[in-house]
Amino acid sequence: MGLNLTQKILKAHLVEGQMIPGEEIGIRIDQTLTQDSTGTMAYLQFQAMGIDRVKTKRSVAYIDHNMLQQGFENADDHKYIQTVAHKHGIYFSRPGNGICHQVHLERFGVPGETLLGSDSHTPTGGGIGMIAIGAGGLDVAVAMGGGTYYITMPKVVNVKLTGSLKPFVTAKDIILEVLRRLTVKGGVGKVLEYTGDGIKNLSVPERATITNMGAELGATTSIFPSDEVTRAFLKAQKREDVWVELKPDEDAEYDEVIEINLSEIEPLTAAPHSPDNVKDVKELEGIKVDQVAIGSCTNSSYMDLMKVAKILKGRTVHPDVSLVIAPGSKQVLTMLAANGALADLIAAGARILESGCGPCIGMGQAPATNAVSLRTFNRNFKGRCGTVSAGVYLVSPETAAVSAITGKLTDPRTFEGNIAVEMPEEFMIDDNMIIPPAEDPSTVEVIQGPNIKPFPINTELKDEVPGKVLIKVEDNITTDHIMPSNAKLLPFRSNIPYLSEYCLTPCNPDFPKRAKENNGGFIVGGENYGQGSSREHAALAPLYLGVKAVLVKSFARIHKANLINSGILTLTFKNPEDYDKIQEFDELVIENAVEQVKSGNTVVVKNKTQNTEYEMSLDVSDRERQMLLLGGKINLIKHQNAAEG
Ligand code: F3S
Repeated sequence: MGLNLTQKILKAHLVEGQMIPGEEIGIRIDQTLTQDSTGTMAYLQFQAMGIDRVKTKRSVAYIDHNMLQQGFENADDHKYIQTVAHKHGIYFSRPGNGICHQVHLERFGVPGETLLGSDSHTPTGGGIGMIAIGAGGLDVAVAMGGGTYYITMPKVVNVKLTGSLKPFVTAKDIILEVLRRLTVKGGVGKVLEYTGDGIKNLSVPERATITNMGAELGATTSIFPSDEVTRAFLKAQKREDVWVELKPDEDAEYDEVIEINLSEIEPLTAAPHSPDNVKDVKELEGIKVDQVAIGSCTNSSYMDLMKVAKILKGRTVHPDVSLVIAPGSKQVLTMLAANGALADLIAAGARILESGCGPCIGMGQAPATNAVSLRTFNRNFKGRCGTVSAGVYLVSPETAAVSAITGKLTDPRTFEGNIAVEMPEEFMIDDNMIIPPAEDPSTVEVIQGPNIKPFPINTELKDEVPGKVLIKVEDNITTDHIMPSNAKLLPFRSNIPYLSEYCLTPCNPDFPKRAKENNGGFIVGGENYGQGSSREHAALAPLYLGVKAVLVKSFARIHKANLINSGILTLTFKNPEDYDKIQEFDELVIENAVEQVKSGNTVVVKNKTQNTEYEMSLDVSDRERQMLLLGGKINLIKHQNAAEG
């Protein structure tokens, strides 16, 4: 039986386990990336392991999330990341050089290699034929140290694209169509592997838009083959030497097949407040728009912004609309400047931001109260933009640009004019904003400013785990709820004691106080708990507050892994009705916890207040079980190092 592309790459990197869906496998990681909001913690953890130099083929530290520098805090983080990278063999992409995923695609991505990134949109790298996975910082730290990365062997879904897109219908609309069909839970435990004749006309940046938003499906990752299109992109980046052809075998088998005829797709939008709340733009046309934001790791490539420039050239942004544009990288911005497109954007009234994440994560450009914001980004969860009452619609750059002129949500097909853009034969390349690691690490001093606090480490699991239900939350709680990430908090990503004061406060402002007063306890949640970003702060803050176990109907993949890495028990209700019965402040206890965790996949939680008990499933691998017993991954690694002598 032939192999699909996902299986081929995983097989080539397999260190442990068998490639049977649902079983745990360990893979070797070739490349890692971090960004500043998760990077500080990842490098603190890397340092805690006592390893001198990264053992990966390539590791890159990006600064792209927080560049407002309203105080010393994030400037301290940047300095720390720069010096720690320099010392330990990591490339450093300076602030202003661009968004990690865009720059990585341009300058570092290699077809057929594995990439682990401490950012949930790391799957963007699948656009160039990598197995690129988002993970918590600790997993990335371990991979940098040469450690194996463990995942559940995913099912592989073949997304077969046929036909070709109609004018003004884009890669963004393809992935929104996939989201409409599969929902934000539809990719869990799966890799989406794109094939079919329809991919031939999709450039690497377009493919990357699609793999980027595979993260919104909850997928492990998404991947395109490496073909002549990939080769042309790498050639234009003067990196043709890393190109290899990669495709599934003729007789490859898949766990599922989805067919999408590209010629049937319409311009789409994800309406507030979820990326799978997808509607035809036509259906919502006419909604008054207050803000348009173009950029992010989803849609900020040279070609995206050239199309926007063509739409805006000689026109003026509607007086009621604030149009902000953040180019994805220095390369993109330089090219727009050199060919005059930047002047067209500025002349039309666009506000140009530096190359970085910016408004995507609420770092500036929060919309007004109750405003409608059209964004080319990948997430529209409530409050992520910085304004809780705002409604964010996710759209293509074409829809965004046309709507910025009309002042209302507009079907881009009403625009008259040709906006076709060819991929350049050569991109403008200058890596002067990427600092290579020091040749002699002993000369480098790591600078750790006062904002950088030690991270919490759990203790071994006790035999009796008692505590109150500190909070009970609904379905689809995101990591933004658990550990809000806004302009005020982002500078404190390396300061867990401070951050924990905001843990789960969007759900209940009293949570941190309750947790402290009760000496920790339990969290109860619904379906898909912890969806969204890879930020492990969403596990570290509860750990700091003494949370011992999270009881839910189901978990989002990365968050579950992060909780286990922190030694917090991840339990799912065997009978979902039990969720309805359990109440806030109920006194719970897990008796014989060590024995229960050791011996099987069922853990009984007693509810002393209601005099009842719940059967919970503990769906973890043996390695994860060991982590839970020892109190997290750092303890496991220390334990292993001690055993190795
Ligand atoms: Fe940055 Fe937003 Fe992407 S925060 S990495 S542009 S999802």
